[in-house]
Amino acid sequence: MKNSKLILLITLPFLLAMCSKSVVSVPVMEEKTEMIKEKSWVEEKLSTLSLEDKIGEMTQLSLDLLAVGQPYNLQEPFTFDPEKLENILVDKKVGSILNCGMHANDRETWKTIITTIQEYAMEKKESGIPVLFGIDAIHGANYTLESTLFPQALATASTWDPTFARKCGEVTGYEVRASGIPWSFSPVLDLGRDPRWPRMWETYGEDVLLGTEMGLAYIDGIQGDDVSAPNKVACTMKHFLGYSVTLRGKDRMPAWIPERQLKEYVVPPFKAAIDAGANSVMICSGELNGIPVHADEGILKVLLRDELGFEGVAVSDWADIPYLYERHRTAVDFKDAIGQAINAGIDMVMVPIDANFTTLLKELVDEGVVPMSRIDEAAGRVLKMKKELGLFDQAYYDFDNYDNFASDESIQLSYEAAKESIVLLENRENVLPLDRAATGKILVAGDNANTLTCLNGGWGRTWQGTDPQWDTKGKQTILEALQTEMSEENVIYKAGNEIAGAKSAAANVDAVVLVLGETPYTEKPGDIDDLNLPQDQLDMIKAFRDSDIPVILVLIEGRPRLINEVVEIPDAIMVGFLPGEEAARAISNILFGKENPSGKLPITYPKFPNDLVTYDHKGTDLAHRDFSMNGFNPQWEFGHGLSYTNFDYSDLKISADTMNMRGTLDISVTVKNTGDRTGKEVVQLYITDKVASITPSVKRLRDFDKVEIAAGEMKTISFTISADDLKFVGRDNEWVTEPGEFGVTINGLESNFVLK
Ligand code: GLC
Repeated sequence: MKNSKLILLITLPFLLAMCSKSVVSVPVMEEKTEMIKEKSWVEEKLSTLSLEDKIGEMTQLSLDLLAVGQPYNLQEPFTFDPEKLENILVDKKVGSILNCGMHANDRETWKTIITTIQEYAMEKKESGIPVLFGIDAIHGANYTLESTLFPQALATASTWDPTFARKCGEVTGYEVRASGIPWSFSPVLDLGRDPRWPRMWETYGEDVLLGTEMGLAYIDGIQGDDVSAPNKVACTMKHFLGYSVTLRGKDRMPAWIPERQLKEYVVPPFKAAIDAGANSVMICSGELNGIPVHADEGILKVLLRDELGFEGVAVSDWADIPYLYERHRTAVDFKDAIGQAINAGIDMVMVPIDANFTTLLKELVDEGVVPMSRIDEAAGRVLKMKKELGLFDQAYYDFDNYDNFASDESIQLSYEAAKESIVLLENRENVLPLDRAATGKILVAGDNANTLTCLNGGWGRTWQGTDPQWDTKGKQTILEALQTEMSEENVIYKAGNEIAGAKSAAANVDAVVLVLGETPYTEKPGDIDDLNLPQDQLDMIKAFRDSDIPVILVLIEGRPRLINEVVEIPDAIMVGFLPGEEAARAISNILFGKENPSGKLPITYPKFPNDLVTYDHKGTDLAHRDFSMNGFNPQWEFGHGLSYTNFDYSDLKISADTMNMRGTLDISVTVKNTGDRTGKEVVQLYITDKVASITPSVKRLRDFDKVEIAAGEMKTISFTISADDLKFVGRDNEWVTEPGEFGVTINGLESNFVLK
């Protein structure tokens, strides 16, 4: 059947082309031909491989297993162990390697690592198939020393400008390839909808539209049109599926997400990325509705392949196959776990340190537990990915051909992104910007004032990002940036959260800058039991309750730590969600007005620990004490952010008061900069479904646009919506658009229309 279908596929375009050129354009024919060529290349390649070769292609091991020393405790500097190289790459034919060893490597070390691995694989391994090396390049090529580090995803989302996601993706792709690596385990497309979750800062925030737009822009940047190019790498959508909304708000904990919620809020960013050509997907380490995702054929095959049409490689997450018996207890042992996961749809197993995997998988095939067809399908996808990446033609590009590595332009991009990521939350009495001439001395205090690692967060130059010895030389901390601005003798610094000293020092200054928040963490080490800002930091803020000089609170954190207890004390509050290593001077320039802040919250900033709710909540969220039908009571709302200028909105217009299912509606609004300086504003279009068969959200973000407006100028911003923008997942768990009345809101201006 498949062959006849294939012939039909070849015949059909030519037949159609004979009758009318307009019916089947040449690109469609070329694409189909290309697909057929690729398919036959894979089939031909597979036919030359042994079962062991194919299993090797499905195996991903940590770089640690090739080095002198023990995993996580390698001899320094990184040194290959020739016996291990031979055993892993030649005997076991392992086709993929990941990670960096103990810490980020310089480019010379990466050159040695990559060239050694590829030469072993291609010259000594019987099949000669190149190795697919994968790395976590989360906010730049973080595992390559001196690379450009960008704001983390949540900070990038705070800019509300997808251009930054795209451009940071472009530079990341370039600098990862410059390290000889063709595959990055990024972006995270999970949404940050639970502020307790320790990987909030790796997401593009809580909203489906903002998260999807940012993710697509990043993927377009890092993959481009030709993922084999010397400045592009394959991306990895992660973590499929339902990883970020666990019951307990901790990493790798069970998630219970009904199908309707999954379809409407979790799947869309991944679907969009699949449709945009994302090259690979990494699977969620958690348990979704009682089933570990790594063993769930319903998610890995029915949804991912049959419904969403993904054809790329599905790679497991770290050690998640052993976890099927160690944690989830759906398997009796490692071998049973391997059989479950491979048969469920995992193509490549990030084992990552038990090389016995290959032996066990071969046994499973010999015993008929895992069919050869599944092995061919999985290994075929890996081979296809290696071919798309150009590895068979050139396993790595000339390492000396990357003159723009950490270029001034890339560093400036990181600065611009950091600057636009800073969200000014409060500015009482317009205390900011500080008047430079009237500010003789300042006090700088707080845990995060004098560290670069806190600006970068996790996935730094080490996994946890906590070791300053690997920091990029010459980058400034917030303290150092302020000392540059004011000269050292005018900046009094009190390290940590030592209150008495800070209080006494404050007596001789004109302003206090408290830099607090979180120290770096990645994944489970970031689990917390209390979302409040730590008590010693709250006490530090309280110490300035009666200050008669301006107190500025700068929060540098990966998630919104609660500060309601002290929120009235600072005269101004700003937040950077791990804004990266160029952020210090951005923050200093914002404090002194050289830059005008334009960031907006990509998440809801909660006020109370028991009141964690997203902006797109349902109107029936029962109230607090006042029993109103909508107890939405955050510290600061999704989309909030202040500027040093003011923007007045007027003339909200809708092109018609009705729209039909096939029509569109134009919505416009005028925004005037009534202040005395240029500023950027994020115009946010929210739409409310007044009545629906499923309780509707109080509002949904349906479009946004960040615009720069000069002082005294005005701009009219227009949006066009269609019925498709109003769809939701209905009672039958299918997408539906229902007629009825809809409300339109832009910055407090309201209108409505009827969908017929
Ligand atoms: C980790 C993370 C995943 C990362 C992978 C490889 O456990 O969950 O995001 O890409 O392992 O380091």
